Amino acid sequence: MPRTIDWDGDGIVLVDQTALPEIRTTVVTDVDALVDAIRRLVVRGAPALGVAGALGVALAARTLRGTALDAACDRIAAARPTAVNLAVGVRRARAALPGGPAAALAAALELRDEDVAACRAIGERGADLLAVLCGERPLRLHTHCNAGALACVEWGTALGVVRSLHVRGLVAHVVADETRPLLQGSRITALELAAIGVEHHVVVDGAGASVIARGLVDAVVVGADRIAANGDVANKIGTYPLALAAARAGIPFLVAAPEGTVDPATPDGGHIEIEERDPREVFGGPAWNPAFDVTPADLVTAVITERRVWRP
Ligand code: MRU
Repeated sequence: MPRTIDWDGDGIVLVDQTALPEIRTTVVTDVDALVDAIRRLVVRGAPALGVAGALGVALAARTLRGTALDAACDRIAAARPTAVNLAVGVRRARAALPGGPAAALAAALELRDEDVAACRAIGERGADLLAVLCGERPLRLHTHCNAGALACVEWGTALGVVRSLHVRGLVAHVVADETRPLLQGSRITALELAAIGVEHHVVVDGAGASVIARGLVDAVVVGADRIAANGDVANKIGTYPLALAAARAGIPFLVAAPEGTVDPATPDGGHIEIEERDPREVFGGPAWNPAFDVTPADLVTAVITERRVWRP
């Protein structure tokens, strides 16, 4: 599996997430194409969006100056509203612009490399925590959407925890929600789990809560698009019902995300802009298509980042 996002010296190389499970790469060399790729979810997942945003600034800086460059950076940052990593990535590379295009590129590549290290650290810390919370035994885990290698540069956040546990021989089984309407669970998470040899089943989103209620999983592990200062978590629509079910069943509900997903400027979940996507993505109509939901902090057992275990 190639890296989800990388730089080839001339452009941004992306594993096209709209084509998965077929693995197809595409190269983006200008800002218009990048904004389109972000909106269409060719590149998706909060950490990958952060790197895309930073590399986008480097792309823009090759040809644009002054207000045109500023406008391009703003356009990239606003391409999707919920995952704060996108704006954070843009901001980081933008701050390096006084040093010229090479400095912006260096900042973006540094973010790429930091994401790789962060995911490994999150994986190890999450695996350690699950061993404490659930005991050192093969675990049955439940996840939603895709917070794996294909949502980051490599390894993953929530699936990074699964990977780290799997390396220790401590994963019995994973339940992956299908994740309507764009099927990140059945198309992407299932592909990743199969590739690393983890036994898994896909369930329809409506089955998620009852799978937990029936005692079929030991813990829920999901990623995040934005974590507010109070610990409220925005993640793919359908995450909140899992948190409710996990609380009712008395099992851990863990959120795995890099520090860049924690947004001190957003006081609570009510201040997180929830992306509304094209109703035509939903079968039938008229449709309403919010792409994310907010899980209140009191339902979150712990947030695992590369630096800490936070119990909001
Ligand atoms: O709409 P998407 O596919 O970008 O949504 C992705 C998610 O909700 C992920 O769970 C989140 O970004 C964390 S990825 C490590």
